[in-house]
Order: sequence, then C-alpha cells, then structure tokens
Amino acid sequence: MRQTLVAGNWKMNGSLDANRQLLDGIKAGVAEGVSAKVVVCPPAIYIPQAADMLTGSPVSWGGQNLSQEKAGAFTGEISADMLTDLKCEYVIVGHSERRALYGETDALIAEKFQAAQAAGLIPLLCVGELLEEREAGDTEAVVARQLDAVLDKVGIAAMAAGIIAYEPVWAIGTGKTATPQQAQDVHAFIRQRLAQSDAGVAEKVQILYGGSVKPDNAAELFAMADIDGGLIGGASLEAESFLAICRAG
Ligand code: 13P
Repeated sequence: MRQTLVAGNWKMNGSLDANRQLLDGIKAGVAEGVSAKVVVCPPAIYIPQAADMLTGSPVSWGGQNLSQEKAGAFTGEISADMLTDLKCEYVIVGHSERRALYGETDALIAEKFQAAQAAGLIPLLCVGELLEEREAGDTEAVVARQLDAVLDKVGIAAMAAGIIAYEPVWAIGTGKTATPQQAQDVHAFIRQRLAQSDAGVAEKVQILYGGSVKPDNAAELFAMADIDGGLIGGASLEAESFLAICRAG
C-alpha cells in the first residue's frame, strides 16, 4: 500500500510574515490529524525558517531545485549538501518551469536527480507534456522520454527511492485540471514503464499528480488507483486550502 503524499510547491512566493502564518496554520491542521504525508517546498532562502518552525512536527520540507554540482564556483546555485544541512528530506527536480524558463534539459535533470540521491535527498521528479504535445497525441512519448533520461542514468533500483510527479504543463496554474481518468491513464503508463524494468519497484514508487489541484478536485484525483497524492502550487499558499487537500488523501 503506497502512502498518500501531498507536497506544496510555493514557487517564488512568500515572505517571513506570510510564511509564519502559513506554517503555523499547516502545523495546527496537521496536528489535528491527516493521513497523508505532508511536505512543503518553500523558496530556498526561507528553508531555514521552515526548518525552525517545522522541526518536531510531522511536516517535512524540501527544496524546489538544486545544483547538479557538489560545491565550488557556481554563483547563485544551491547544492544537495546545503539542502540536507538544513534537514530537507525532499527536493523537486525537473519542474516544467525549470525546463521551460531556465532551459533545463532531460540530461541535466537526470544529473540533478542523481546529485540529490547521492546526498540522501528524496528527489521528486516532475514529468509532463505541453498542450501541443497532448493534442498531437505525444503525451506518452514525451513522458517516456523524460522518465527514461533519468532511468538510464540512475537505474531502476534508484528510482525506488524517488518520487515521480506527473504535471501536465497545460494544467499548471491554469485552473484546467486533468480529469481523474486523464491523469490516471498517464500514471498507469508511468508505472507500467517502470514495471518493464522491475515490477516490484513500479508497485512501490509514489506517483503524484500536479496541475490545478484544489480542495474540490483532490479527493477524486487521489481516489484513482495509480495516483498517490499531489504536488500543489497555488492552493498550497493558503493553510486552509492546502489542509483540505491533505485531508483528501
Ligand atoms: P498549480 O497547483 O498552481 O497548478 O501548480 C502546480 C505545480 O506546478 C506544482 O509543482
């Protein structure tokens, strides 16, 4: 049985004051009991604040990105070791915004996935197609390419210690959610692709859905056989909506 995981990707949002309120709210709500594992991924500069506020609570935290390099002259970058120094357990790798806006390639993302795991972080690998790719019938080919780039680099055994997030780009921040069946079809495809290498790993890997998950659609998405939780953008910025999604798990 795979545990439901709900992770909030705050993207480039927040302030010390706003985060304090949000984290207080999340902590209080989670303390009342949610069955899902809850994770927040604040902007890197606020990770120390999250670490201070969340230590001792069941809520975990992670980064939104990391460098593939270990250390050195890489101005502006953040290493895997720095994230673990701040007790991050997770890091998002290959978010579509990193791919589209910052030119991250499949090969670079595979390196980042490997760097994260080498430091003991759980990488949350994002895959997903653009609207044009879906309309051209290329969804599975795109997702397979993104997945295989990482699989070929790290091997199937390493995938067992990672998490995958299917985030169709057309559903991110648009209010246009994939239907539960559309999402389920791609999740099942991902699992079946992993199963070609190792059925045991495929069965174990958590596959999250991301893209306009809201309190009113989370339960039906999470009820699908191969959807093991969500990666939440906009709705993770308010304690009440994030908690409602966590409770749907
Ligand atoms: P939204 O929930 O705002 O659509 O964002 C999804 C996402 O990109 C999470 O990583």
